[in-house]
Amino acid sequence: MRERLPESLQQKIEERLRYYEDLGIRLFYRDRSASLISRGNDPPEVLNASAVRAAQEIALPKPKIEAPKAAAMPPVERIEPVIRPCGPSLFEAVDKVADDTLLKIREDIGDCTRCKLHKGRHKIVFGDGSATAQLVFVGEGPGADEDAQGLPFVGRAGKLLTQMIEAMGLQRKDVYICNVVKCRPPENRAPEPDEVATCSPYLFRQIDVIHPKVIVCLGAVAAKTLLQTNRGITQFRGQWLDWRGRKLMATYHPAYLLRNPNAKGEVWKDLQKVMAELGLQPPKKKSS
Ligand code: URA
Repeated sequence: MRERLPESLQQKIEERLRYYEDLGIRLFYRDRSASLISRGNDPPEVLNASAVRAAQEIALPKPKIEAPKAAAMPPVERIEPVIRPCGPSLFEAVDKVADDTLLKIREDIGDCTRCKLHKGRHKIVFGDGSATAQLVFVGEGPGADEDAQGLPFVGRAGKLLTQMIEAMGLQRKDVYICNVVKCRPPENRAPEPDEVATCSPYLFRQIDVIHPKVIVCLGAVAAKTLLQTNRGITQFRGQWLDWRGRKLMATYHPAYLLRNPNAKGEVWKDLQKVMAELGLQPPKKKSS
């Protein structure tokens, strides 16, 4: 009978596999020979290359082979494929990813040219705030002011977001603010699916590293990206949802509120739910 892994470890592995899937890594294989092969004999490059080849062989469709005529073929000895260890095992990888930091993520992004948004940007807008924040706000993508300063939400919509944060009894430095895409889309258009697909793995890593209690998605792009849904934001705005075991609330984008001030009351109700979850009190009004 197969022994079951402890539930906590199973959950950790499931979470990690989902993370790899989000990064586009979908092929995994189990290394049955890891314990039989001494790692010391081969340099790591050789181990990696052979394991990649083995993985590719598993991934490739098998060529069609004509059935041999029975009499013409000598008996064939079956050779078990040797799958050699490749870098860290899944267990080591869990720890390695647990070592991730905002600095490493920023370094991995580098002077990014992975999608077409790089062509028009001045500054990459990585994110800003506390690396240990309980609350992360996720916007859509930088606008002109953010592109010029390299900081998220510093334009008109940003000023409104700052007021919202302060109304919750917090300061900007207490929370973390970032976007789905890190470069400004031209004419402030919404980021396109290929741009979101390229950039969002870095957002997922940022959230994983910060490990907040609550994620607030500002607007449909952030909500759709994290929840992987095409449903309109009005269908789930203000409800508690799950993102990889963390609480997520989607609300309207501050830029939408600038155009539709009547919706501010709805957003304030959403933020009050967030405050209750985080045990926050609104700041006391200064007496005159
Ligand atoms: N709008 C966003 O979605 N993000 C910013 O950083 C600024 C405006």
